[in-house]
Amino acid sequence: MGDIRIAPSILAADLSKLGEEVRAVDAAGADLIHFDVMDNHYVPNLTFGPLLCSSIRPHTKLPIDVHLMVEPVDTLAIEFARAGADLISFHPEASRHVDRTINVIKDQGCQVGLAFNPATPLHVLDWTLDKIDLVLIMSVNPGFGGQSFLEHSLDKIAEVRDLIDLSGCEVWLEVDGGIKVDNIASVAEAGADTFVAGSAIFGHSNYNDVIGQMKTQIAA
Ligand code: DX5
Ligand code: ZN
Repeated sequence: MGDIRIAPSILAADLSKLGEEVRAVDAAGADLIHFDVMDNHYVPNLTFGPLLCSSIRPHTKLPIDVHLMVEPVDTLAIEFARAGADLISFHPEASRHVDRTINVIKDQGCQVGLAFNPATPLHVLDWTLDKIDLVLIMSVNPGFGGQSFLEHSLDKIAEVRDLIDLSGCEVWLEVDGGIKVDNIASVAEAGADTFVAGSAIFGHSNYNDVIGQMKTQIAA
């Protein structure tokens, strides 16, 4: 297995001291900072805008992995690129012109990901896999942290792993929702290489321990 990455979702952090939380997971071995953007339109919740992204930017050198759960996508994607995002993922059904949105994000110098909800089919990858850097498989319905991992995501992850391997493209396979120390091995086994975890990391008293345990589980 190649590189693996743990991406703590700051949705579950203590938001009253976000800079400190970001520095703490960075020091504890995080590989990316996952930044969940919800607009109360595409998903029934409201979180963070570009201003908050630029506020955490000075607190870490890790890539900021922006997960846009917004509709429409393009204008906000540009704002997040300017706010210091390194990687920007969006849900294809939230953009009327997926190919254009991919280009908008790349033109800003960011890496780009496509995110798929539990019931969203993968066929858009037929025409995009060679243009993107990451596929994000949602293992919960987006909108909230702390939900339970949907087991049927494992088959979907395995399907994407095959698509990526067949394509020969360098694309990361990220999984988001309900990932814990006790199920991360099965997610890795299915083919994921990048693991988002919110409540499992920020709900733990020792970030170093929990991230270390996750990495040990994946390597096992
Ligand atoms: C859900 C978000 C997730 C969420 C994960 O819409 O995209 O990133 O924060 O949280 P946990 O790990 O608690 O399921
Ligand atoms: Zn997310």
